[in-house]
Amino acid sequence: MKLLVRDLAQLATPAGRDVPLRGAALGEVDVLEDAFVLCDGDAIEALGRMRDLPLLDGDVVEVDGRGLCAIPGLVDCHTHAAFGGDRVDEFSLRAGGASYEELHARGGGILSTVRATRAAGEAVLLEAVERHRDWMRGHGTTTFESKSGYGLDRETELASLRAVRSAGGVPTWLGAHAVPPEFEGDGDAYLDFALNEVLPDAAQLAEAADIFLERGAFDAEQARRYLEACRDAGLALRLHGDQFTESGAIPLAVELGARSVDHLEATGDAGVRTLAASEVVGVLLPASALYLGRPMPPGRALVDAGAAVALATDFNPGSAFCESLPLCCSLAATQLKLSPAESLAACTVNAAHVLGRGKRLGRLAPGYRADIVLLDAPDWRYLAYHLGGELVARIVAAGELR
Ligand code: NIG
Ligand code: FE
Repeated sequence: MKLLVRDLAQLATPAGRDVPLRGAALGEVDVLEDAFVLCDGDAIEALGRMRDLPLLDGDVVEVDGRGLCAIPGLVDCHTHAAFGGDRVDEFSLRAGGASYEELHARGGGILSTVRATRAAGEAVLLEAVERHRDWMRGHGTTTFESKSGYGLDRETELASLRAVRSAGGVPTWLGAHAVPPEFEGDGDAYLDFALNEVLPDAAQLAEAADIFLERGAFDAEQARRYLEACRDAGLALRLHGDQFTESGAIPLAVELGARSVDHLEATGDAGVRTLAASEVVGVLLPASALYLGRPMPPGRALVDAGAAVALATDFNPGSAFCESLPLCCSLAATQLKLSPAESLAACTVNAAHVLGRGKRLGRLAPGYRADIVLLDAPDWRYLAYHLGGELVARIVAAGELR
């Protein structure tokens, strides 16, 4: 079955074929006015100006794109969508001045979601991931990654990874998110358990492993041990690093050949230079910095230094209860000083690269998967410009209109 989206006000896509994009190439967007995109099955067959639209024979479903702009389906490469309960009480306490790190140290924060997630059961967990996926879709996300990390026992970690897979997400094993209460603060003993008892099965379900390398969570030595074991089990590597303190995440990520290091709110000039000189992608999470009232990551400095950056929501119940990548593009423009073009590449091609899918997702080009967002806007840059706006008119996911 073919699907033709016709008479689009604009079609905008990151230019070229390289992944990941960095430097000047990050800001290059191809824009076609009065455009069409033709999908065949789950792939893009052709695109161009309306005046160049060939005569089509056979069955073609047509979509009227007048007044709309087409961009690639958005890719959210960093979320924590597998959780039970919520943290609205904690949110209210933080609004009154309580700090995120203090709540965590007192057994609240991440550990309160661990309690709720363990109690939820697999069916409820799957419903939660599907609900969160649908929220993301409403904001134009056609591919999402989600971490586990709120089980921290064998059964709930594996159930979380299965739930993410069943909901169509890309699963990451965040087996080292926090030290659960039964290990009484002994991170090494917890890692013995996680690597011996959980990793063998987690490696069959997940594509990557992730760790929270931070004061109050895991240190660099523990991170090295965890990540080396995960790499040996065949998983790609990711790190939560430099969220509150520079604790060695960037050098370790570079040394181990990680796909990404995510957060970077505390990254200084040396870290910026090290990351920029490497293949590791810096994943910027401005909604999380905003939500916790923390300094923003040095997005402009990273891009100017030549780093490959991606942009993601960090959707989770504590530090970023926000599923909107367009909102993150607005924050990237206003807070990180990234252009709309740089933001578009950061939450499409570069995010797809972080998920190992940079050759098939994140661009509007023949052969790429037919994932398309139709923006209710006269100019594609409304993606960043319309702060919190109702931007998404329709999406096409793998060639299917939704
Ligand atoms: O990316 N920093 C560690 N993990 C998550 C937050 C998890 C939570 O607060 O529940 C993050 O911000
Ligand atoms: Fe996160």
